[in-house]
Amino acid sequence: KLDSDQLIIDAGQKQFGATTCSSCGMVYSADNPEDNFQHTQFHQRFLDSIKYVGWKKERVVAEFWDGKIILVLPDDPKYAVKKAEEVRRIADNELGFQQVTLSRPTQAKTFLFINTDRLVVGCLVAEPIRQAYRVLEQPDQNKDMRKDDFMDRHRAWCCSTVPEQALCGISRIWVFSLARRQAIATRMLDTVRSIFMFGSYLTKEEIAFSDPTPDGKLFATKYCNT
Ligand code: ACO
Ligand code: ZN
Repeated sequence: KLDSDQLIIDAGQKQFGATTCSSCGMVYSADNPEDNFQHTQFHQRFLDSIKYVGWKKERVVAEFWDGKIILVLPDDPKYAVKKAEEVRRIADNELGFQQVTLSRPTQAKTFLFINTDRLVVGCLVAEPIRQAYRVLEQPDQNKDMRKDDFMDRHRAWCCSTVPEQALCGISRIWVFSLARRQAIATRMLDTVRSIFMFGSYLTKEEIAFSDPTPDGKLFATKYCNT
């Protein structure tokens, strides 16, 4: 079929001249005018969105050698709420979420990881929940590649039909593509567990991930087993 042939050709060309922008992380083909244009459009908007100028009143909930985590609550000053929304929009865009509104906006806690270059490189949105459905372990991974492809694309993870007690729902977790695999998501989650409920440290069973992506599932599986 003509369509699939065309797809293969396009993919080949993309692979051939693919560049990753070292500031915004976008992968594009530098010798393709259309791609170049899309990158220019994206680049500055993205960097403006993750830039953190610093606030007089910020709620620092954790500090590390390579950055800090701040917490933004719905009743915080407008500039703080606006920044949290801006970063959440970037995460949603990457996750393919259509809906930008939160299920319970008045109760959402947004955690932002700010690095030493004053960029927001991580965002986690936690909401109180009562119950959740556990994502079941996928049997026979890789056995049937085509099925896995389908599962990945449709996020059709098998969930248990039995609701379980949970307290904290992670509705979004996102780390800037150029800052992944540096335990930023791990540290954001550890921080959520320590401060989500006053006076107690949440167990890994008391937190639940909503609608995880393939990346999210790999991370969650690792995090929950360690
Ligand atoms: N592939 C395989 N294992 C992974 C991956 C991956 N892509 N990501 C994390 N892990 C595992 C690893 O074992 C890792 O430890 P290691 O680096 O020592 O091997 C461990 O999880 C801890 O990873 P972190 O470094 O803490 O995770 P990171 O900061 O890279 O963030 C995240 C992970 C948030 C999933 C990131 O990849 C991301 O933002 N992806 C795009 C957005 C996304 O899909 N988010 C999840 C949506 S689900 C939801 O929001 C409920
Ligand atoms: Zn760029």
